[in-house]
Amino acid sequence: MIETPRLLLRRFRPDDAPVLGAYRSDPDIARYQVWPSPLTPAEAAETVRGYAEAQPEDPGWFQYAIELQADGRLIGDLGVNLHENRLQADIGFTLAPAQHGHGYATEAVQAVIGHLVAQGLHRFAAYCDARNTASIRVLERTGFRLEGHAVEAVLIRGEWTDTYTFGLLARHWKDSAPSPALLA
Ligand SMILES: CC(C)(COP(=O)(O)OP(=O)(O)OC[C@H]1O[C@@H](n2cnc3c(N)ncnc32)[C@H](O)[C@@H]1OP(=O)(O)O)[C@@H](O)C(=O)NCCC(=O)NCCS
Repeated sequence: MIETPRLLLRRFRPDDAPVLGAYRSDPDIARYQVWPSPLTPAEAAETVRGYAEAQPEDPGWFQYAIELQADGRLIGDLGVNLHENRLQADIGFTLAPAQHGHGYATEAVQAVIGHLVAQGLHRFAAYCDARNTASIRVLERTGFRLEGHAVEAVLIRGEWTDTYTFGLLARHWKDSAPSPALLA
């Protein structure tokens, strides 16, 4: 659905369930996330089924599967929560642990924001645990700005955690998006 130099962002398929189940069940990957973890194979299949049925143009969450073009492997997912007004969206992203440190999340976020800006969206937001430095770096690298710090605002796996709110206006994205050279 969306191609980047190294990635294909596509709809989820039933055969993605084992890979998604594996990385979502990794305690390090789930540490700052509100989604359930670990996932049983049946729960992973149900999650993927729900993702596959959603429509990206409808308000609500649409989850892109992130596939590596080189070998067709599923390496993560990127969610877009389109608001009812279809002019704003929230995003969230996850990569399988073996795929960290290559710029794939940055490349996926940049492509999705570019796609949504071209569709006329006005503003984007992302929410992350204040300790989630890897996520903060991806957001800052793609032009998001820190807008808020909510103290002990979210209960994640029994722990009250601080949440950072990041925002990005479409008109600022063009100026601050990383250069293609960074992603080459
Ligand atoms: C958040 C998450 C996706 C970030 O993964 P990541 O691998 O650090 O992010 P990227 O794929 O964009 O890679 C960026 C890193 O690769 C490096 N890199 C290597 N080659 C690169 C390239 N060609 N282009 C860009 N960056 C590259 C960058 O320097 C950067 O490293 P740094 O952060 O140490 O400076 C990952 O930590 C994750 O899945 N966490 C669990 C889920 C989660 O918490 N999600 C956030 C929800 S808000």
